[in-house]
Formats: sequence, C-alpha cells, structure tokens
Amino acid sequence: MFKSDSLSPFAYPWYLQFGTVLLVLGVVLGMQGTPGSTAPSQSSARAVYQAGVSLSPADDGEQIYNTRCMSCHQMGGRGVPGTFPPLRDTDWVTGDKGRLIRLLLHGISGTIEVDGQTYSGSMPPWGGALDDEGIAAISTYIRSNFGNDASAVTAEEVAKVRAATKGRKKPWTGKELKKEENMGVPGDSTATDG
Ligand code: HEC
Repeated sequence: MFKSDSLSPFAYPWYLQFGTVLLVLGVVLGMQGTPGSTAPSQSSARAVYQAGVSLSPADDGEQIYNTRCMSCHQMGGRGVPGTFPPLRDTDWVTGDKGRLIRLLLHGISGTIEVDGQTYSGSMPPWGGALDDEGIAAISTYIRSNFGNDASAVTAEEVAKVRAATKGRKKPWTGKELKKEENMGVPGDSTATDG
C-alpha cells in the first residue's frame, strides 16, 4: 500500500510515524497527569504517577543541579578555576544556611574568595525560577554531595529568609554576605552553625 521507493513525499507515511510518536507521548503524559486513570491498568498508572511526583524537577535537587547549575559550576561541583567557583569544600555552601539561601534567592556579584581563589563574576538570582521547595532541594543537594556533609535546608527555612529579604532587588556582594546581619534564618538560633 505504501511504496517506500515512491518519489511522492505524500506516499510515504512520515505523518503516520509522527502521529505515532505524538500518540505514545500523549499516553505517557496522560498516565502521569491522571492518578486515577484506567489505562492500561490502575496500579501501573498510579506507580508512574507516584514516580513522577517524587522525581518532579521542582523539588529534586539533583535535577535542578543538572539543569540550572552544572553549566557553570561543572560536574561534581568542581567549578572552573578563576571563572566559576567550586561548590565543594567551600564555606559558602557548607557554612551558614541563611547566607546560602540569600545568595541563591537573589544572586551574587562582585569579588568573592572561594578556596583561596578570587572570583569577580556574577551569578543570576534563582528566587524567581525556584520556589521554597526548589531552593531547599538544591541547597540540601549541594550541601550533601561532592564530598560535602552539611545539614539539610528545609522549605520553611527558605520561606523565612525569603520573607525577611523580600525588599532585596539586586544581587548580594560577597562583602555584604560576610556580615552577621545577612546570615542565619530569622527566628532560628541553631541555623548559623550549619
Ligand atoms: C551563569 C553561571 C552560573 C550558574 C548557572 C550558577 N552559578 Fe553559582 N556562581 C556563579 C558565579 C560567577 C559565582 C561567583 C560570583 C562572584 O564572583 O561574585 C557563583 C557563586 C555561587 C556560590 C557561592 C560561591 C561558591 O562557589 O560556593 C554558590 C553557593 C553557587 N554559586 C551556587 C549555585 C547553584 C546552586 C546554582 C544552580 C541553582 C548556580 N550556582 C548556578 C555562576 C553561576
């Protein structure tokens, strides 16, 4: 019925193949989006849905790292000496939580020193692209990977810092973030020791 050696572009069913891809995509997405879906079986649909929830990019630190941070900070958080600072073995990551949350929410620019090297670049703010869960997930991820071993950051902590700094419209400087007033999580006396 379809002759593959035909010269007519309409004889070969490319549009059928495209349609099939769309159909498969539609089924997969449909299964993820509808927990009570009846196709193909209730339990497998639910399993896919639940897997979708726990791996959702919004709160999976590793996913966020791979898609939003790795292009600059590199695989394993090793950075690019002199250009993009490393995320391992640095107090900016494993030290005060409140300071890390601030620099992620609003960005940082100007001169900072990381692991004995000076950097004068700038990092965009992430507070618009990532909600409290997202900032908490990426903070926890970088604090507990790349050989780092610091405590987790919770969405409540991010929410408190976000509320306390909501007037902030420009990136922090490293100098500002060295000040006591820009560290810690409001109302949480244990947060400063990481
Ligand atoms: C466009 C490149 C770029 C991206 C993308 C980026 N950063 Fe940065 N980041 C920088 C630069 C440049 C600095 C240093 C800024 C300066 O010199 O003042 C920095 C500094 C930092 C610091 C403080 C210094 C250090 O190395 O510990 C942390 C923590 C950090 N970034 C985490 C992140 C996280 C987490 C993400 C992803 C959500 C991210 N960055 C995405 C470029 C980037």
